[in-house]
Amino acid sequence: MIESSTEPRGARQYPGVRLPVVAFKASLTAAITAALIAALIAAPPPAFADDSAAVPRAKSSLPANGPLPARSAVAHKAAIASAYPLASQAGQEILAAGGNAFDAAVAVSAALAVVEPSSSGLGGGGFYLLHRQSDGYETMLDAREKAPGAASRDMYLDKAGNAIENASIAGALAAGIPGEPAAFDYLARKYGKLPLKQSLQPAIRLAREGFPLYARLQGGIRYKRDVLARSPDAAKAFLTADGAVPEVGAIIKQPDLAATLEAIANQGAQGFYAGRIAADLVAGVRADGGIWTLQDLAAYRVIERKPLIGEYHGARIVSASPPSSGGIAVLDALNILSGFDLHRYDSATRKHLVIEAMRRAYRDRAIYLGDPDFVKMPMAQLASKDYAAGQRSSIRTDKAMPSSLLPGIESEPVGMQTTHFSVLDADGNRVAATISVNLFFGTGYMPPKTGVLLNNTMDDFSTKPGRPNEFGLVGATANAIAPNKRSLSSMSPTFVETPKGMMIVGSPGGSYIISMVLLGTLNYLDGMNAADIVKYPHYHHQYLPDEVDYEQGALTDAEIKELQAMGHSLKVSGRQWGNMQVITWDYATGKVDAASDPRGEGVGLVY
Ligand code: DON
Repeated sequence: MIESSTEPRGARQYPGVRLPVVAFKASLTAAITAALIAALIAAPPPAFADDSAAVPRAKSSLPANGPLPARSAVAHKAAIASAYPLASQAGQEILAAGGNAFDAAVAVSAALAVVEPSSSGLGGGGFYLLHRQSDGYETMLDAREKAPGAASRDMYLDKAGNAIENASIAGALAAGIPGEPAAFDYLARKYGKLPLKQSLQPAIRLAREGFPLYARLQGGIRYKRDVLARSPDAAKAFLTADGAVPEVGAIIKQPDLAATLEAIANQGAQGFYAGRIAADLVAGVRADGGIWTLQDLAAYRVIERKPLIGEYHGARIVSASPPSSGGIAVLDALNILSGFDLHRYDSATRKHLVIEAMRRAYRDRAIYLGDPDFVKMPMAQLASKDYAAGQRSSIRTDKAMPSSLLPGIESEPVGMQTTHFSVLDADGNRVAATISVNLFFGTGYMPPKTGVLLNNTMDDFSTKPGRPNEFGLVGATANAIAPNKRSLSSMSPTFVETPKGMMIVGSPGGSYIISMVLLGTLNYLDGMNAADIVKYPHYHHQYLPDEVDYEQGALTDAEIKELQAMGHSLKVSGRQWGNMQVITWDYATGKVDAASDPRGEGVGLVY
């Protein structure tokens, strides 16, 4: 589960791919035309792939923007799936105390900050997709980190305009203003039933009394040992007194983190964004070369955004909106695929079509998307079926299209930083949350006396047009750094709903998140159960690099041969990706399943 090697990607550019300089102005008409031209450049295919006429479309009576009318009349159980058992249990404790899914989301997030500090925490941020059952209201809490007010477009470039190695991932200059503490306060006040103080208790207890170190976290500590050792407070929390990696089973206590959680419990967001802790955060950041100010912290707000809602063969897909690219990319890929009857094809062709849809959706991510408060994005067009039809028309069923033939940009893989959890309560309220400090332990730097590890989410900006970030993702001006801007994310918390039931899904995995959520959605709609969805072997294409990455077992030998014959370049991944947490609910029987990805050691609980 631990990323075994981090190839420095910053130095690479993708040959033959030029970025549009003014991202959102690149007109969609031009993109569609270009896609069509690209299709024509390729040898004329025996069968062009838009076979939409042949697709038996499920007749949908979906309200464009509301929940599906069908609902379970059968009582059902609550469920939580998260990346670590102690975090699922923290949520269970809060549900048992009378909390709803939103209170449980606070408890699970806060517990993950303690027991899975490599993945998310108070120093990070994320997206919480919410569904309130009483009135079907759906919203996304955008608790994404913000660039500090003193950030600037070229802050990670030297005078010659070259990227400074590691500047956007190491040290406090790489940290955005965190959003997670503000999300706790907001969730509890606006949607929860219990006081924040109560929902934070399990995490405070875990931080104060400690928890036994487990193998995956130990691996992460070993991987980041040198970085953690440079931050005295991080070393105190995660290394032994002589700077060694603790044994599995060693009790990890984080008293400073407990105190910070307690300040939030007592004072709400103010306990973090103002007062003693804010002062210590800013002092620590500035001592480490960062640029945070007290004003940056005081000004941080969670933003409620309308989730993206789409339809695929009768299923309603609700997913993260910008500054996440996840929802739009998943919907775009599904729109492209909706013109094919996937079941009509052999498995290699089916995978080829999914890969081609991924290629096109990731390209649009790179070109158009950024923080909606800063960038005008052609969202309606990107989500439209007509646009997808234009993209689909350049797909051949028998041949890969090189990414260089698509005008624009692209990406690469990831490890197991970041975390996702899913919650369903007995009333039907639900949460899909993907939260992060970006890379393992974020910057690894802990401002003294705070217990808070700083994120390095600034690396999710396009630090220079065309320069790939840690995930191999490139971008252009839409995702350029600007003061107070949120960087573009791939985190894709998603609800999939059909008249028969629903799924809550999401995963960590950097750029791979989008393709994993896409595959999870297709698998759910094909009738796969939660346990099989989370263990499904993944394949992935992110436009650039122009290759299909796949986990062992994702492609059979025959599929590999066929895909290669179509012109795909295939690369088997040496490691596994993702840590998907899925809950499914069958309306007819009331049956609820919760499954945690066997690649990790999380647990799905139903009670
Ligand atoms: O927001 C993003 O897209 C990234 N910061 C997520 C990082 C991630 O998933 C790392 N996981 N392996």
